[in-house]
Amino acid sequence: MKLLAIFSTVLLAVAASSNEEQWIAFKQTHGKTYKSLLEERTRFGIFQNNLKKIKEHNARYDKGEETYFLGVTRFADLTPEEFGDFLRRQIKNKPRLHATPTVFPEDLEVPDSIDWTEKGAVLDIKNQLDCGSCWAFSTTGALEGQNAILNNVKIALSEQQLLDCSYTYGNGDCEEGGQMSNAFEYVTDYGIEAEESYPYKGKDTECQYNASKTILKIKGYKNVNASEEELRKAVGTIGPISIAMHANPFQLYIGGIYKGQGCTHELNHGVLVVGYGEVYKSSGKTKFWRVKNSWGSNWGENGYFRIKRDANNLCGIADDPSYPVLY
Ligand SMILES: *[C@@H]1O[C@H](CO)[C@@H](O)[C@H](O)[C@H]1NC(C)=O
Ligand SMILES: *[C@@H]1O[C@H](CO)[C@@H](O)[C@H](O)[C@H]1NC(C)=O
Repeated sequence: MKLLAIFSTVLLAVAASSNEEQWIAFKQTHGKTYKSLLEERTRFGIFQNNLKKIKEHNARYDKGEETYFLGVTRFADLTPEEFGDFLRRQIKNKPRLHATPTVFPEDLEVPDSIDWTEKGAVLDIKNQLDCGSCWAFSTTGALEGQNAILNNVKIALSEQQLLDCSYTYGNGDCEEGGQMSNAFEYVTDYGIEAEESYPYKGKDTECQYNASKTILKIKGYKNVNASEEELRKAVGTIGPISIAMHANPFQLYIGGIYKGQGCTHELNHGVLVVGYGEVYKSSGKTKFWRVKNSWGSNWGENGYFRIKRDANNLCGIADDPSYPVLY
């Protein structure tokens, strides 16, 4: 119902208002300002290309030819190439010396569906802003999840600390990106502060970690073997799991279950799988993963997205799962 409502609002907006009106609304919603008139004109041109793409895609969705729909997200003034530049998780990283793979028992009972957001294990959607820090948000998401599940403590944790302080663990700045495994190793050695004591700025600053403000320490972290079945066991029985994926097709995503073409296994975005399930329609059932993103709550399905599950590891969703081990 909610999705339908959102979708019709988008359709109405696309039909009823001119490109100029939508441009003004877009700039207002996302606080966009441009350096010069020329820059603004260029951006408006790109925006209009994206509007066209959205309209054409959603017309196909209307006819049942697509399973997800598009809209004006905060990335609607970027070309696909520029959006690709924004996704920059990969850096040369140190070998993961301390990761151990998860061995699940043969008789493990795994639920058919699960949604950790309904179990209070997922905190509010955050926004990485214009910084390649997705990996830090994926890391805190998994830490917050285990802290909520095992300790019943719901405290937002500091991405800024990871961004500022885990450089020697192989993580980069806003331009370079980083890796969740490196961040977990850093947190294993140092612990992590709360969001409140070390707030997010969206840019690199000098490390201001204060050990006496550490709010969570961990024993280490584990990997999950790269398969959707292993990932399902992990999400089904452990909690929200950090993963990396290819996210280029999600620039204008606002809802539905992504199963489009255009995804590769070039992992360039760190996110958090928070659940899985399936939906039933007259055309059959579709299995999905539910994933928490860090692009604000006005992107996607209130900050989340769904992607087809058991579809040959679409977008590399199960290529690189990991999670922290608490004391
Ligand atoms: C993980 O995958 C490797 C390589 O395929 C395999 O040797 C190992 O047994 C697997 N481990 C688990 C826990 O499934
Ligand atoms: C570190 O945190 C403690 C406790 O909040 C505070 O008393 C101390 O002044 C802080 N140290 C620095 C260098 O900011």
